[in-house]
Parts: sequence; C-alpha cells; structure tokens
Amino acid sequence: MTTPDVTPPSFAPSRDVALQVDGLTVEFATDRGWTRVVDGVSFSVLRGETLAIVGESGSGKSVTSLACMGLLPRRSSRTPSGTAELDGVDLLSLPVRAMEDLRGDRIAMAFQEPMTSLNPAYTVGDQIAEVVRRHRDAARKEGWRRAVEVLDLVGIPRAAERVKSYPHEFSGGMRQRVMIAMAIACEPAVLIADELTTALDVTIQAQVLDVVRQMRDQLGMAVLFITHDLAVVADIADRVLVMYAGQEVETSAVDDLFARPAHPYTEGLLRSMPQSSTATAATATAVGTGRRRLDSIPGQPPVPGSMPAGCRFAPRCPYAVEACVDGVPELLQVRPEHFARCTRALELTLRGTR
Ligand SMILES: Nc1ncnc2c1ncn2[C@@H]1O[C@H](COP(=O)(O)OP(=O)(O)OP(=O)(O)O)[C@@H](O)[C@H]1O
Ligand SMILES: [Mg+2]
Repeated sequence: MTTPDVTPPSFAPSRDVALQVDGLTVEFATDRGWTRVVDGVSFSVLRGETLAIVGESGSGKSVTSLACMGLLPRRSSRTPSGTAELDGVDLLSLPVRAMEDLRGDRIAMAFQEPMTSLNPAYTVGDQIAEVVRRHRDAARKEGWRRAVEVLDLVGIPRAAERVKSYPHEFSGGMRQRVMIAMAIACEPAVLIADELTTALDVTIQAQVLDVVRQMRDQLGMAVLFITHDLAVVADIADRVLVMYAGQEVETSAVDDLFARPAHPYTEGLLRSMPQSSTATAATATAVGTGRRRLDSIPGQPPVPGSMPAGCRFAPRCPYAVEACVDGVPELLQVRPEHFARCTRALELTLRGTR
C-alpha cells in the first residue's frame, strides 16, 4: 500500500501567521476519567484573514478557542498535547498572570451574548477605558479618548455621547458592536468571535459581519470566526476549518470548500444549509439560489469518550466502506491548499453548492 500524501495544513509563511495551533488536544475530567473532546487540532490564522471554524454542536469549536484564550476551567480540564503560538509564545504553557496580560491585548474574544463580557453596572466608556488602562498603562483620560474612538470605529452613532451609556441602553446589535469595540480597543493581533451573530436577526447580523470585516482590514487582525452557520461562513470567511467530533475533518479556502467539498460530512452540512439563513445577497450567491431539498445529516455525532474506532463519521456516512470502519483516516491533501480526513477523499466526487 502506498503512503498517502499527508501534509499538515499549517503551510503558510510564518511571518504572516498570527496564531499557529498545532496538535491541540483538550480533555475534561468526567466520572469516567479524563475524556478527550478536542483531538489533535492544527490550524493557523494569518494576519488580515478570517478563518471560520464550523461544525455541529459539541464538535469542540468553543473548547478550541477557550484553550487559546487560556479560559478553560483550570481544575477540570487539561491539554495533554499541543501548542498555540502567538508572537512566538505558546499560550497553552503560559502562567496565569502572563496569559491575563495578553488577553484583551494581543488576543481578544467576542461572544454571542455581550453581557458575558460587559458589566451592567458600569458605563461602556468606563469598561473600555479600563481595558486600555490595564494593557497600555494609559491615564483615565486617554482611556476615555480611546473608548470614543473605537465606539466610533465600530459604527456607534454619536460615540462621544454614547460612551457614557450603560450596556442595557443599547439595542442588541449595538451592544454587539460595543463588545467588538472593547475587544479591539488594544488592537489585538487575533480576534476570536464565537457565535457572534447567532442571536441576531439577518439584517443586524449582516451589519455586525461588516463591522468585523472592516476592523479586520483596518487593523490587519487575524479573525477566528466560530459558527455553526455555513451561510455566515460563506459571507465572512477566507478559509474554513470543519470540525467533527473533536477533530478537524476538512480545511480549505472558502470558495473551494463550497464548490468542491472533499469530506462527506462537509457535503452533508452544505446540503442541510437552510436557504432562510442566507445573510446577504453575496451569501445567497455563494450557497446557490435555486430551490433545493434540505437533507439534514442522519444520526447523531458520537459522544466524547465513546468515539468509533475508525473514521468518526463512518456510522453516519453514506459513502462508508469497510476500510472506513477499520482504519483511522489521516488528513489527505486533495488539492494544493485543501485537506480532508477521509480515506476516500481522492476517489469521491462530492456535491458542492456552487
Ligand atoms: N467545562 C466542560 N466540562 C466538561 N465537558 C465540556 C466542558 N465544556 C465543553 N465540554 C464538552 O466538550 C465538547 C465540545 O464542546 P464545545 O463547547 O467546544 O462545542 P461547540 O462545537 O462549541 O458546540 P456549540 O455549537 O453547541 O457551541 C462537548 O461534548 C461538551 O459537552
Ligand atoms: Mg460553542
């Protein structure tokens, strides 16, 4: 048997890499001992690009990002292997205080629910100024000046006045902008957005995505955009990492992924993408505007701690053969910058949406 051509997906020139994750493995303490929920995930995010991580609920998207932010629960989790390098420093092995210094400064995060990062008891100006003061050693006045500046940057009208408002005085979409303003106040190298637009209606979602895009371009940030919504991926991402059951199963430039998926799981996700969640006209084009039957992927993902021995997707895969059940698939290179963890990736022709 010939050895498959296996090349790690982190092939980009190092000077452009903002965040480089290699072989990240995360385990949680459970009744049955340490249970692995993220298993050897590798990716890089380049300056000025958006990498989307997509996958069903429970696939390990948030845990991957929390590991990079040093926000996993300290007692009940561990990372037995892997590195996450930012500015030449491995975030996974940083002492708590050093990670606190980086968080909000070189790497920042915005969530689905703004009130997890905004304190209802303080004005948004106070909160943004505090972040700036902490990381930039700036005086209070300088912090306020920066707060007005970033609120204006993310499109809050009358920023000089609104800086004195409390979080509850903003609408949902505007609060999301405030949270982004706080995250980018120190111009981080990496912005992680976890389901940032999931709770928003389609119009506001498109506006918030625009803000993320503009900030990425103006500040040259690397954006790690986590979502379960492929329509959002089509709208915002340059490259995509598809996760399934704690592993990366496919990675590619966004256009190639939608046009020619190489993993049956990705094909399944594309086929189950509701047309109603299309965010913008650009997205509608990306996902195809013709009427298509929606096929959700039959079955459920495996539960951490009881993964199938061979390919983790095999029990749900319409293309599975005996070899898939027996052998553990490696990431195969299917095209120059396109990899899939499927033994049959090179022989299958799967259906995309473009
Ligand atoms: N603190 C924790 N303790 C134990 N298990 C956890 C903990 N946090 C997450 N998990 C488990 O890790 C796995 C991955 O969870 P994660 O939150 O990363 O999924 P996700 O891909 O972000 O899903 P969603 O789309 O629902 O946000 C799940 O099985 C989850 O139950
Ligand atoms: Mg999540």
